[in-house]
Amino acid sequence: MREMDLASRTGPRIPVIIDCDPGHDDAIALMLAFGCGRLNVLGVTTVAGNTTGENALRNALAVLSLIRAAVPVGRGADSPMLRPLETARDVHGESGLEGLSAPRPELRGSDLTAVEFLSSALRQSPVKVTLVPTGPLTNIAIAFLAFPDIRAKIERVVLMGGAAGEGNRTPSAEFNIMTDPEAARVVFESGVPITMVGLDVTHKALIYPREVEALRESGRVGAFAAGLLDFYSRSYRSKGFEGNPVHDALAVAAVFDEGVITTRHVRVDIETRGEFTAGRTVVDFGGVTGRPPNARVAVGVDRDRFIAHIMNAIAALDAGVWRDARPDRM
Ligand code: BDR
Ligand code: CA
Repeated sequence: MREMDLASRTGPRIPVIIDCDPGHDDAIALMLAFGCGRLNVLGVTTVAGNTTGENALRNALAVLSLIRAAVPVGRGADSPMLRPLETARDVHGESGLEGLSAPRPELRGSDLTAVEFLSSALRQSPVKVTLVPTGPLTNIAIAFLAFPDIRAKIERVVLMGGAAGEGNRTPSAEFNIMTDPEAARVVFESGVPITMVGLDVTHKALIYPREVEALRESGRVGAFAAGLLDFYSRSYRSKGFEGNPVHDALAVAAVFDEGVITTRHVRVDIETRGEFTAGRTVVDFGGVTGRPPNARVAVGVDRDRFIAHIMNAIAALDAGVWRDARPDRM
């Protein structure tokens, strides 16, 4: 790793909690979060989405064990707030991390549920914390409804989800929002600052085959990441993509490098009922509703800069730079 890369990793780390449903790209997001050296990951919570709640917890523990990230992991909701769970097994396979055998987790889940962990970590933190949801927003919505005071301890929510343009689950809806639109509505109406990193940018945040090959050479973590991307690329290749959109990792990158995306501050409302449009993030770019802006919506991405963050983070994990990652004492 170059000296400059190491130098840019110094300075105060941003306290975050990652709420995820691993999921191939969630796994890369975790690697980026722990390998970038810019975040103080207080804990990870898991939610049913790409796969069942049980698989999501096991997959998160497996990835965190691989990268030696000994943080609390709270298991969250097993289904959306009001709807049955429909997993993304077409993209992530039956286990959620299909395609390679994840190492047996050495870490154990926390005794706290996701909502208990979120509320106690936020209340105990002397500073505001950034939440990074990369799955359906079920845990975050339940936590906001059960413990409204915790919203005051949130710096912002930087989430992967939604789309101003076309969806991926339906023509108008993105998977994470479509899976639990009622939860998404609670979060978007919570008054907490939101950055929405949606398909408009993640479909341009592609990692190309030559970059996957470079990762494969980086070491144990890089080889695992490349294996994830090998499986994950199948479904995207069949849709005509020339690389893999690493959706969830872009939300993580946007926390520590605001220059990786450009945003517009606008009103976003969540459609929960439309026959063809349930799960739609209705983005009011023109200001026609007159409703106050509630989210910064990502409209541009610096792909090269984003992929460099992933490559550097995974190289750092393989070099042991952040060995035995534990949250800073606060
Ligand atoms: C989102 O859906 C999931 O399949 C991915 O993990 C990502 O969070 C993309 O729509
Ligand atoms: Ca995800």
